[in-house]
Amino acid sequence: MKIRSIFFLLSIAIITLTVLSTTAFASEAIYVCRPCSRSFIPEIKNVIEELHLEDQVKIKTTSCLGYCDEPMVLKFQNKIYTNMDREKLKMLLMEVFNIS
Ligand code: FES
Repeated sequence: MKIRSIFFLLSIAIITLTVLSTTAFASEAIYVCRPCSRSFIPEIKNVIEELHLEDQVKIKTTSCLGYCDEPMVLKFQNKIYTNMDREKLKMLLMEVFNIS
C-alpha cells in the first residue's frame, strides 16, 4: 500500500514538473521571414531587451511566410504579423507578457 502511495505521489510530481517546464519556463519564438524581413532582427532584439524578455522570447528565422508584399513579416504564437514595426512589436509583446 505504501509503495503505491509513493509511486502515485512521484507520478504527480513528475507530471507537475513536466507541465511547469513546458509552460511557465518555456520560451516563445518569434519567427522572422529571412528573405524579406531579416533587417528587422536588430530591432526585434532591441525591443526584447528593452522589455527584459531575453529569457522568454527567442528569435528564429524562417523561409517565406507568404506575405512578401507586406514586410516586416513575422510569425508569433502561430499567427502571422505583417507590416510590423518597432512600436507594433513592442505593443504585441507587452500584451502577450502582460507588461504595463
Ligand atoms: S519573402 Fe517574406 S513573406 Fe515572403
